[in-house]
Amino acid sequence: MLADKHRAEIEAILAKYPPEHRRSAAMPLLYLAQQEYGHVTQAALQEVAELIGADRTQVGSLVGFYTLYHDQPGGTYRLQICTDLPCALRGAETFAEKLCENLGVRLGGTTPDGMITVEGVMCLAGCDRAPMFQVQGADGIHYHENQTVESAMKVVDDLRRKSSHA
Ligand code: FES
Repeated sequence: MLADKHRAEIEAILAKYPPEHRRSAAMPLLYLAQQEYGHVTQAALQEVAELIGADRTQVGSLVGFYTLYHDQPGGTYRLQICTDLPCALRGAETFAEKLCENLGVRLGGTTPDGMITVEGVMCLAGCDRAPMFQVQGADGIHYHENQTVESAMKVVDDLRRKSSHA
């Protein structure tokens, strides 16, 4: 359980909020769970819900809504392409399809080397610079805008190179 390994951290997070606003601790607690397990597991979801006195479904909806949270295991990096309507009008869907083809995965899948999970996500606030994606990894989140399949493959190559030197 999360509380077994991170009791002090959990208490510090909860202490930031008055008891009547305990639910506000959901986001940092989910983030802690994700750091621990790589994604928010069902058990962690339940635990966070109990810690803040909320319904498991409510906490689950946060995980579903925010692209920063993942409810499934993934690769070392998550390459998240915005496929929302404004970006789709600038070719994001075709871009996503072709990039997946190049990587040998389906949208939502992970490359066989376990390095890249490609996901389609909703608006990332770069609508006029599509096709665009963000890459989430241990070193944070990086945006890549006005992309082509070729430039995106270069980003992937760089990630693989960086990872092999880590
Ligand atoms: S719709 Fe794609 S970034 Fe806004």
